Amino acid sequence: MEERMKKRVFSAIQPSGMLTLGNYLGALKNWKNMTEDFECIYAVADLHTITVRQDPAAFRKQIYNTCAILLAIGIDPENVTLFKQSSVAGHSQLSWLLSCYTQFGELSRMTQFKDKSLKHADNVNLGLFAYPTLMAADILLYNADLVPVGADQKQHLEITRDIATRFNHIYGDVFTIPEPYIPKTGARVMSLQDPTSKMSKSDENVNAWVAILDKPEDIMRKFKRAVTDSDNKICVAEGKDGINNLIGIYSAITGKTTEQVVNEFEGKGYGDFKTAVGEAVVEELRPIREKFDLYISDKKQLEDIYFKGAEKADYIARRTVSKVMKKIGFVR
Ligand code: TYM
Repeated sequence: MEERMKKRVFSAIQPSGMLTLGNYLGALKNWKNMTEDFECIYAVADLHTITVRQDPAAFRKQIYNTCAILLAIGIDPENVTLFKQSSVAGHSQLSWLLSCYTQFGELSRMTQFKDKSLKHADNVNLGLFAYPTLMAADILLYNADLVPVGADQKQHLEITRDIATRFNHIYGDVFTIPEPYIPKTGARVMSLQDPTSKMSKSDENVNAWVAILDKPEDIMRKFKRAVTDSDNKICVAEGKDGINNLIGIYSAITGKTTEQVVNEFEGKGYGDFKTAVGEAVVEELRPIREKFDLYISDKKQLEDIYFKGAEKADYIARRTVSKVMKKIGFVR
């Protein structure tokens, strides 16, 4: 395998609905930080998004919005390869090839598939089932060393590693085996209304999740209404899911350890704590929202960024697909 000066990072995000504080703390904050030390390739996973039915106009809008948010977070397309998955044919091609090296049984065990098929019981399509194979193709196409994701994607990373190992075992050293890169805090931001379940943009209760683009007053309202418990003690403990979640969010934003957060709020009430967390989130997201307004107003620039990124990604992707096909025995 080729020698690289810097380790390569790949990750992707779906352009579905509004991006949330969970997406930001679990993944996007790391995406930005990693650009300094690694060669980074980031995709907007639009092919993944159609596993759930999308309204065409809203989908199109989200594809632009996602690019503008990534730029607003500080991801610089001059240093990073930023593109749309659907613009690089290699994703679909490698996905098919790898599907012949993925077992029905292992896909059936995926918790996300089980959850989503319950939620969208009227549309349990083949794409939803094969989703992890497309995700494996995304990562293996670029021979990524590291994949920054939130904790909910860990199982998909494991199956990616299994598929790559299986393929390498048959054909030799073709794929790099990727490592997940999961942050210590913020890896699993929970719903503000039901802190035993993950914060998700598809939650119908808007008070359960914070969008990266939410207005300050909305963010404050959501944190003030966050579900906690009745013992009014700010500490990490079993059964205190709401408070554990707020401590995690505050710690992920401020960089303080859990212990430091607990000390800072010793003797204070939940009201004060919720306000402090809300304010920290407002200040973290404020510059992103302001810059977003700037980027989203120039659609042509967003299209150019996507186009140039796809050209760079395509160059790598073609080489991988052709190597894989050759190994399998296809004729050129
Ligand atoms: P997606 O679009 O659901 O989420 C994007 C990233 O945000 C993280 N995330 C969270 N982290 C912490 N707390 C939360 N509540 C939370 N919600 C979401 C996710 O872990 C993810 O890192 N299948 C992927 C997209 C994808 C991908 C890939 C990722 C497609 N191909 C290849 C990595 C590599 C997904 O649906 O993420």
